[in-house]
Amino acid sequence: MKIAVLGAAGGIGQALSLLLKVQLPAGSELSLYDVAPVVPGVAVDLSHIPTDVKVQGYGKDDLADALTGCDIVLIPAGVPRKPGMDRSDLFNINAGIVRNLVDAIADNCPEACTCIITNPVNTTVAIAAEALKAKGVYNKNKLFGVTTLDVIRSETFVGNLKGLNPANVHVPVIGGHSGTTILPLLSQVQGVDFTDEEVASLTTRIQNAGTEVVEAKAGGGSATLSMGHAAARFCLSLVDAMRGENVVEYTYVETNSDDAEFFAHPVRLGKNGVEEILSYGELSEFEENAKNAMLEGLRSDIAMGVKFVTG
Ligand code: NAI
Repeated sequence: MKIAVLGAAGGIGQALSLLLKVQLPAGSELSLYDVAPVVPGVAVDLSHIPTDVKVQGYGKDDLADALTGCDIVLIPAGVPRKPGMDRSDLFNINAGIVRNLVDAIADNCPEACTCIITNPVNTTVAIAAEALKAKGVYNKNKLFGVTTLDVIRSETFVGNLKGLNPANVHVPVIGGHSGTTILPLLSQVQGVDFTDEEVASLTTRIQNAGTEVVEAKAGGGSATLSMGHAAARFCLSLVDAMRGENVVEYTYVETNSDDAEFFAHPVRLGKNGVEEILSYGELSEFEENAKNAMLEGLRSDIAMGVKFVTG
């Protein structure tokens, strides 16, 4: 299995690459690409960790070599938020970065599963889809927006609130990956009851958790370590699925539902990416109202991505 991280020298990229170096199955290859000149050094640094995962760094002009033969490509390249910004403020810079990187995926490893971390995910995934379509290689089963951070945050906050080990808490999170488009389904958490007030305040906290980190880092960026963990978890699930295991993750994918063209669902992963998009089940009245209130915003985020590529 060959896996590329594009933006590997960044905050997320380095944390993610470290976790993959120590957790990928023996015999895997890790291909680290970044425009920052430090990337060969990141690769050399990681290569000294004694695991059977080969690490190679690639600089600015070596994107094609970095991608050739890849099975999975993870994209955390781009600028993160600063205090006062929301994810849509990143569009002007990150849209072009994602477009160029996805064009190179289409040219060099069109069969790879592509996992978009770069924000605004609601929009950058639509950009990636249109870029792949323009190259004639789009496969909706192989394009993912990584929303795992919303899931792990929800698990942590619910665990902390209820005095449970967060590692044993499972919280479905559907929708998109910004503000109110992030919709945790607290009504489906097993073995835990919430008051209406708890549901309202937890939902808001989960939706604003990224801003909590941005403000605490005071201009030094957004979530990198928890995101590195979230992306590693998603990537390792995909690796397990591609090796024949039955794995379900929540991820932002193209769906045929009436909600929106892209929507985070529980997805059964397999050898070819998405095997089956599963139903997210019954929603409570609170969740149904929250979903209906955010759909228009999510659809317009998606439309902005389509327009960026198709003009
Ligand atoms: P960072 O600034 O620490 O790292 C970004 C890296 O991308 C840098 O090393 C930079 O050189 C590189 N880069 C820029 N243009 C590139 C290009 N054309 N090709 C290759 N590499 C390029 O930023 P950080 O904190 O790692 O965040 C990266 C992205 O991830 C941001 O857009 C951020 O908003 C997003 N993010 C997504 C989350 C999610 O849940 N999906 C959570 C947190 C952040």
